[in-house]
Amino acid sequence: MNVLSLFDGMSCGRIALDRANIKIDKYYASEIKPHAIKVSKQNYSDIIQLGDIKNIKAKDLPKIDLLIGGSPCQDFSGANKEKLGLDGNKSGLFFEYLRLLKECKPKYFLLENVKMKKEWQDIISEYLGVQPININSSLVCGALRNRMYWTNIPNVCLPNDKQIKLQDLLEYGYTPRDKARCLLESDSRPLNTPVKMVHRYINTGFTTLIFKSENHYKNIRKHSDKNFKGKTAIEIESYQGDLSVYDGVRYLTTVERERLQTVPEGYCQGLSDNDAACLLGDGWTIDVIAHIFKGLRMKLKKIKYEQSLCIRHRKYSRSDTYGGTGNVMVGSGYCSIKNCPYFFYQNKLKKFVICGGESNYTRDDYYNERIEKHGIKAVIKEIIND
Ligand SMILES: C[S@@+](CC[C@H](N)C(=O)[O-])C[C@H]1O[C@@H](n2cnc3c(N)ncnc32)[C@H](O)[C@@H]1O
Repeated sequence: MNVLSLFDGMSCGRIALDRANIKIDKYYASEIKPHAIKVSKQNYSDIIQLGDIKNIKAKDLPKIDLLIGGSPCQDFSGANKEKLGLDGNKSGLFFEYLRLLKECKPKYFLLENVKMKKEWQDIISEYLGVQPININSSLVCGALRNRMYWTNIPNVCLPNDKQIKLQDLLEYGYTPRDKARCLLESDSRPLNTPVKMVHRYINTGFTTLIFKSENHYKNIRKHSDKNFKGKTAIEIESYQGDLSVYDGVRYLTTVERERLQTVPEGYCQGLSDNDAACLLGDGWTIDVIAHIFKGLRMKLKKIKYEQSLCIRHRKYSRSDTYGGTGNVMVGSGYCSIKNCPYFFYQNKLKKFVICGGESNYTRDDYYNERIEKHGIKAVIKEIIND
């Protein structure tokens, strides 16, 4: 299928399509941030970068089957005090998404955004003609990330809770929290002194900090509660006492951020921690998107299966043999493991053989072994249900 990914960032959409086992013919990306494009290119040399969304016209593209994107959220976000919503310069880019949705008329679309005021959410729903589904990434990873997804991909439900804890994803150190808070670019900048980092951690809850050990955390907490409770960052600066207890407190590493977003480890290699934090903070949680795409895969599989049945009927009606080898075709199906249709034959020796592949029907030992063990009927059922 051909995919158009708007506001593509570092191409998390592409990683998710791969993870959901969806075959891509062409993947077009619209993105303007140089380091995001750099990471996409270093991981996927075949992505076609189109640049600024405002310059893209559907007439210059082939038929698009899937249109995806998470339009900028700054004007919706709770972190932004002005909150201009759809009137803001950034979040207003949703209308460019809408323009291309209308121009391209893809069979499927997906739009992602932050949780926002109901009023804005309803406007988007009305334009797109679907209600959003609310998924918190915390179900599939070690971070809190509450997001809205508008899509016409069928059968999207909440993913199962994998019960992943932040502590399990750390390279080293200790966290008292079950889940990381939202991943922020600002949490990668060592601008703050450790004491200010802790002050922000305790007071805003936004940032995620890692401590050397449980004792390290307890000692810091004790010191902070005693000396800084209710104080402002400026008041803390004038503190004259010993602050060495705070030494060793740290932000998340890039690898930990990748793990939290279920992005393959090393995907952001070569970037500074700050640039990686910016992209990973903006990016999609891969396992959530791959979960949504599963509905697409089931739909495509059904279409392929129906197509393979047509092939069977055509060949079968012409002759009871296939490929000149005297094989009699007895059934067909679509197998996701090999991503292709399968055909079941009875050969000259009256043995069942399963063949697969879209152009050359090679013998498949895996299925032959399973037939010997479980019988042809069970295996056919297994493949068709897969
Ligand atoms: C919320 S992020 C999306 C991240 C992406 N979903 C990912 O998984 O990496 C929004 C992206 O829109 C990009 N963007 C902003 N203005 C744009 C424009 N005019 N054309 C194309 N992309 C733009 C930003 O650079 C940013 O990477």
